[in-house]
Amino acid sequence: MAAGRGSFNSRFAAVMALAGSAIGLGNIWRFPYMVGQHGGAAFIIVYLACSLLVSLPVFFAEGFLGKSTGLSALGALEKKAPRWRWAGYVSIIASFVITSYYSVVGGWSLDYFIRSLGGGFSGLSMENSTEVFSRMSSSHVEVLAAFGAFLTLTAAIVLAGVEKGIGLFSKVMMPLLFVMIVVIVVKSLSLPGASAGVDYLLKPDFSRLDAPAIAAALGQSFFSLSLGVGCVLTYCSYMKKEDSLTATGMWTVLFDTIFAILAGFAVMPAVFSVQGLEPGAGPSLVYETLPVVFSQMGPLVPVVFFLAVLVAALTSSISMFEVVVSWLIDEKKLRRPVAVLLVYLAALVLGSLCALLPRVFSACDFAASNIFMTFGALVFVMVAGWLLPEHDVRREFSSARVFSIFRFLVKWVCPVAILSIAITNLL
Ligand code: PHE
Repeated sequence: MAAGRGSFNSRFAAVMALAGSAIGLGNIWRFPYMVGQHGGAAFIIVYLACSLLVSLPVFFAEGFLGKSTGLSALGALEKKAPRWRWAGYVSIIASFVITSYYSVVGGWSLDYFIRSLGGGFSGLSMENSTEVFSRMSSSHVEVLAAFGAFLTLTAAIVLAGVEKGIGLFSKVMMPLLFVMIVVIVVKSLSLPGASAGVDYLLKPDFSRLDAPAIAAALGQSFFSLSLGVGCVLTYCSYMKKEDSLTATGMWTVLFDTIFAILAGFAVMPAVFSVQGLEPGAGPSLVYETLPVVFSQMGPLVPVVFFLAVLVAALTSSISMFEVVVSWLIDEKKLRRPVAVLLVYLAALVLGSLCALLPRVFSACDFAASNIFMTFGALVFVMVAGWLLPEHDVRREFSSARVFSIFRFLVKWVCPVAILSIAITNLL
């Protein structure tokens, strides 16, 4: 391991950081909506199967490359599969692109958190709420200020280092995030009419499970677990040698899935408790519909909710930011403060473009989640499943049983599944 690159001081810190990367806006604003759209409990079953049979092996393959080399994306590929070194650059570019546009949305959550602190949502009607959001998102000054502040927070945590920044922030904030979401779930389920939201999430409708729904489940599982862009690889490179990769992976998938389902129960019963509100995906759900519902539940509920969104977004954005920083530290031998400053300045430029030009924002989102992630995941599974000798990969697995299941999945199931979603998404 290169000197001075830092490490997580315990398995708990590693799991919290990885769960922090995984749990983000994807869990809060995409998962609940997708479940309802694609057949309720039927979709949840497919999602769970995708997470176990495809995403978990991808996690192990990517994490293996980081943990066994103690290097970031580029160095790890160079060491294990020199001909695929260039794919390391794809990871770095992907993470950088995601950092930039994700921070724009992260900025909205900061903006809304501050608004909620000032009681800005009391007595809000749906029309007002739509207006508040469109005024905020079309005010260049406000959007840029919020984006800049969010990116500065991200950079500050990464600047404090792997152990004292990322590790410590995740160890403190992730348990708190779970507490906050449980509070909202309890509040949400106690609303009159909440059962319609529970039905929306749980009523199994197998007739809606078509090919696009299955591709959506796998795509969501990849995005939610931050796979294929070097985040898992980089964080696993900071794990202690004696900590188990398999246990860390399983805990991360478990926490991410539990959180996604909790988010569903926090969001949908609240939406359905108000007559005439329709669940929508993305920004309209979190920034237009939910403020109306939560503000009716007392002044503290929006504060807790937007703090949860902010924390979830921050623990994800630091992981993407760190991918680029760790490359500059490992390969370009820069000191952490210099690396952080460079990434910060570059992300300020691309992020500002994303904030001001919706087309740039959508292009970044599309490229990152439909092209880069699937490509990166495919490279990681091919390297771990086909290129490297079995005994090399075997060393990171304490159980022979788990390893043989992993070997089969990573060789056959993952490449086929990843190629199929890539094709379905591009069609
Ligand atoms: N997993 C994060 C979420 O669910 C998003 C993310 C994608 C984070 C890629 C890092 C890398 O919001």
